[in-house]
Amino acid sequence: MRRAVGRGWTWVRARPALAAWFFDAEDDSPEARFREFNGWYFANFYEQEKMLADRPRMAFYHAAITRHIQPGDRVIDLGTGTGILAAFAARRGAAQVYAVDHSEILRHAKTLAVANGIQKVEFISMHSSKLELAEPVDVILHEQMGDCLFDEAMVTNVCDLRDRLLKPGGLILPSCFDLYCEPVKLNDVRHVPHIWELNVHGYDYSSLGRQRPQEPDYYHLRSCDPDFVDHFLGEPEPVMSVDLHTINEADMALELNFTRTVLNAGRLDGYAVYFRARVDGDLALGSGPKDVGRAPHWGFRILRTDRDDFAAGDQIDVRLTVGRWTEIDTWRWSHVKRAAVIEAGV
Ligand SMILES: C[S@@+](CC[C@H](N)C(=O)[O-])C[C@H]1O[C@@H](n2cnc3c(N)ncnc32)[C@H](O)[C@@H]1O
Repeated sequence: MRRAVGRGWTWVRARPALAAWFFDAEDDSPEARFREFNGWYFANFYEQEKMLADRPRMAFYHAAITRHIQPGDRVIDLGTGTGILAAFAARRGAAQVYAVDHSEILRHAKTLAVANGIQKVEFISMHSSKLELAEPVDVILHEQMGDCLFDEAMVTNVCDLRDRLLKPGGLILPSCFDLYCEPVKLNDVRHVPHIWELNVHGYDYSSLGRQRPQEPDYYHLRSCDPDFVDHFLGEPEPVMSVDLHTINEADMALELNFTRTVLNAGRLDGYAVYFRARVDGDLALGSGPKDVGRAPHWGFRILRTDRDDFAAGDQIDVRLTVGRWTEIDTWRWSHVKRAAVIEAGV
């Protein structure tokens, strides 16, 4: 029951516009209602423990903080949750950590810090957009990545603090992110074709035509299971890379066009959406289905396509348009196939 409810709220969470119906926000904008939902969602242990038990995630942050926070630094921990990253920073010798969270989870963070003998952390219960400090800080620490990278308002929240409260030349940890949108074939056992593609023991559904339902979630699937994806058709490469030190939300392209040359022939079932966070040369965290040591608690999305079969050497020209990067329901995609040119034999 609890899991079913959890799954239901995860589904609502991925849709800020829908989450807006469930939560009473001070103002009526979808953003304000999403903030309210987000605070509620992270208040329970169930969500926090999934993140804390994600070993690659915690190893990545522990290493990043150990390498890049210097003794004496003043740090904002944006969205401190149970206070774990603030504690790592304090243990590293930070002079002061401002651990901000708008969720009720913060009262547990305070108890945990006392129990673990953590000092130099000031817990602040508010949304980061309201945070004011007498002096700017050296470092902004955060974990604001959603399944589709931008769907937990990372860019809005971090850039707001960067522009108001980070010293010139200060550090955002992590700051560099790659977004992937890779053509994939799904595992035959797990693949769910569109209904008009089905023939079940001779019962043919093609007469339903290719009329797509209106529900936006019909267009994408979520999975945390790496086996869901059989293989990538091409060589994965980022479709967008951002550095939070320099990016401005208004400058983020809302249309991406990219091409993959098919290396591994097969059926195109959709595009796997996932991300990689990079801190320095060898320190990275990935949520991709084929990433070695992937961070398991993040789901990856499959943007479904009509069935299309590709041979090695074919090219897939993909067009992705985005209404808002924070809402996958506003994303739309299409592709054009360019067949490989076969040299005539002699
Ligand atoms: C993904 S959790 C990460 C928690 C913790 N930093 C960790 O790494 O385990 C994100 C946390 O940020 C909080 N949060 C998200 N946006 C926020 C904002 N703009 N201001 C304050 N808290 C925020 C949520 O309530 C949640 O506890």
